Amino acid sequence: MRLRAYLSCISMQNVPGWTGVNERTFIAVKPDGVQRKLVGEIVRRFEKRGFKLVGLKLMQASEDLLREHYCDLRSKPFFNTLMSYMKSGPVVAMVWQGLDVVKTARKMMGETNPAESLPGTIRGDYCVEVGKNVIHGSDSVESAQKEISLWFRQNELQRWESSNLRWIY
Ligand code: RTP
Ligand code: MG
Repeated sequence: MRLRAYLSCISMQNVPGWTGVNERTFIAVKPDGVQRKLVGEIVRRFEKRGFKLVGLKLMQASEDLLREHYCDLRSKPFFNTLMSYMKSGPVVAMVWQGLDVVKTARKMMGETNPAESLPGTIRGDYCVEVGKNVIHGSDSVESAQKEISLWFRQNELQRWESSNLRWIY
């Protein structure tokens, strides 16, 4: 898994178009969001904002995948709880594309702790506890590249032209 992510990352850094309107981010509806039937609402918000969906799948994340995904947090006291939470049911993994999508998605999600998230954000509207905060979003363009290559194979990402593009840009 580590090798695959690394190789994909290296190859993607050479692909033009990971900036501007082609910027991509990795978003996941966490197991609580799936259980609470929030998938449609979350997809709706990203679509309505003007972003383009390029990948989506419902899946059970493996231990290996989650360890790699959260490797920066492995020394945190909440790491084991986080792993159990993320393994507790299926997640909806998605890739969204558009101008400044990484930063904008984080704003749409709200703060890590729902109590600090403003109403109108996803976490500010749909959850109360940091350990059940409904959604994940990449925190930088570099993290997005790594996470997309970890969660998706290249052939799972669709190339398509959105017919309303000129009304968004
Ligand atoms: P995410 O990666 O899920 O988008 O969340 P984030 O960037 O806002 O927060 P991060 O620091 O990356 O933490 C990842 C996830 O770990 C859980 N967490 N629990 N108990 C705690 O104090 C605590 N802190 C973080 C949350 O599910 C958080 O989203
Ligand atoms: Mg994070």
